[in-house]
Amino acid sequence: MTLLLSGLGMVITLMVDVESNVIGSQNVNAAGTNRKHILDVDVLSEDEILNILDQTDAMSEVLRRDIKKVPALRGRVIVTLFYEASTRTRISFEEAGKILSADVINMSSSGSSVDKGESLLNTGLTLQAMGVDVIVVRHPYSGAPNLLAKHLPKVSIINAGDGLHAHPTQALLDAYTVRSKLGSLKGLKIVIVGDVLHSRVARSAIWAFTKLGAEIVLSGPNTLMPVGLNLVDGRANVLPPVSVQPDLDDAIRGADVVMALRLQNERQNGGYLPSLREYIRRWQITKDRLSSASKEVLVMHPGPMNEGIEISTEVAHGGRSLIEEQVTNGVALRMALLYQVSAGGYQIEEEHPNGQ
Ligand code: CP
Repeated sequence: MTLLLSGLGMVITLMVDVESNVIGSQNVNAAGTNRKHILDVDVLSEDEILNILDQTDAMSEVLRRDIKKVPALRGRVIVTLFYEASTRTRISFEEAGKILSADVINMSSSGSSVDKGESLLNTGLTLQAMGVDVIVVRHPYSGAPNLLAKHLPKVSIINAGDGLHAHPTQALLDAYTVRSKLGSLKGLKIVIVGDVLHSRVARSAIWAFTKLGAEIVLSGPNTLMPVGLNLVDGRANVLPPVSVQPDLDDAIRGADVVMALRLQNERQNGGYLPSLREYIRRWQITKDRLSSASKEVLVMHPGPMNEGIEISTEVAHGGRSLIEEQVTNGVALRMALLYQVSAGGYQIEEEHPNGQ
């Protein structure tokens, strides 16, 4: 499959053999899914996503226990391999693995032999030779997790964010968060605001939300929208159909969910915006703006936030905000994914009557 990300004259084409890497594993778990790797949401069916969300419910129950520990992944080794900074994703994967009793080893490019020039592939082969079961990888290059999945037959790969391409675990936790509040995503109007062009979060979220039946409206400066959205030629499968409404006040009307994207620092001086003040005036999520949305509108942000730029402090920490719940749910969702790719049929044990 060819992944094609395009915008502002920039076209990045990746030849990624997604299907052959994702499907066909022998690792069939108790719930009936057979994904060895989690590389993006676009290849997951609605049923598979719902299955992951259902397993996340079970993991949330574990997190509510006094003693948050189950033996499901005892004896498994997970490495978090991060070539980019992270707080939420890396720590929640570490916490998730430890709650499931896996041995979790954190590795960052800085301080490892990557500093001496070791390639991503040789790093992966080294970890495979050490008997690692799962690599959770974040990398600045789109397609890096797919490369590892293609060349490491003994290891499950989970994409923790690759370049501009995908951030599937963020999208799934966001879908879980919406479902846990509203019961279902079917028929919801979800507005995604800001720098869609450079956002791997937005790409994966669009796939996840639309597969679950939501209508997606994108809003932001035209310079930060991908070109070729909704094309009906060969590029039509780059993203599912979405609406684009640059005027945020129009976009937000009747919305059930509004998701702000981080305005990455480098975009502020990269010629994408007339000025930061103009961006704040037209696209910041504020309490006033939300008044035209549904009364029960929910506000999301994948983090890290630039408070006062893409979202006001009042909204970020107000009663409609799901931002902290997104972070909490990230642990349960990542537990579900680690379990699905590596448990191979283990059952989560019922809580012991005395809480142990
Ligand atoms: N949302 C997200 O990926 O956050 P981190 O960069 O902190 O992991």
